[in-house]
Amino acid sequence: MSKAKFITFEGVDGAGKSTHLQWFAETLRQRGLEVLVTREPGGTPLGERLREILLNQPMHAETEALLMFAARLEHIEQVIRPALQRGTWVISDRFSDASFAYQGGGRGVAPGKLEQLERWVHGDLQPDLTLLFDIPIEVARQRLSNNATLDRFEQEKGGFFEKVRQAYLERSRKHPQRFALIDAAQTPDEVKADLGKIILSLK
Ligand code: TYD
Repeated sequence: MSKAKFITFEGVDGAGKSTHLQWFAETLRQRGLEVLVTREPGGTPLGERLREILLNQPMHAETEALLMFAARLEHIEQVIRPALQRGTWVISDRFSDASFAYQGGGRGVAPGKLEQLERWVHGDLQPDLTLLFDIPIEVARQRLSNNATLDRFEQEKGGFFEKVRQAYLERSRKHPQRFALIDAAQTPDEVKADLGKIILSLK
């Protein structure tokens, strides 16, 4: 395989992406690759502190967008770029597409503002591959209801998640070359089979 790749996992809360992410990373490691697993918001000491605030503290939608991108800049400069440069693959549980989906679609922040932030923070860096775990909102909500504690995003109503889902799908139509859509309503084994095919197709 060629140079180290940057792969992101996306989807509404309850789509099951985090479970599959671990399996995906392990499968790549078994193929002899160095793989770093990280997440957003988070991934650095400052990013994790911002995550704590973002998940718990109510704030203006645009403040939320700015803090997401502030955490992201730190993540890119301290973790993502250095890893890719030394040949380590990077798999991130969420990245900028989540800002377009949650802050853009969900909260109504103007896409043009998010595009400006995106250009500012990582103009020349985009994921090589983005796996979008797509699932009907009722199914995702049902899975979430098993969780004991829900964060500020997970506590949102179904309508919010419908907007998030649609914004993700729109984003995947805009960037078809890097997006792969995963039907996350399937059984875990079926999802794994789809992911296995994607791994085999990686060049
Ligand atoms: P999530 O991956 O769902 O964490 P966990 O699985 O531990 O609950 O991410 C936390 C939340 O952050 C999620 O609800 C989506 C939200 N988020 C945004 O709103 N914008 C962003 O740019 C990112 C990266 C995440």
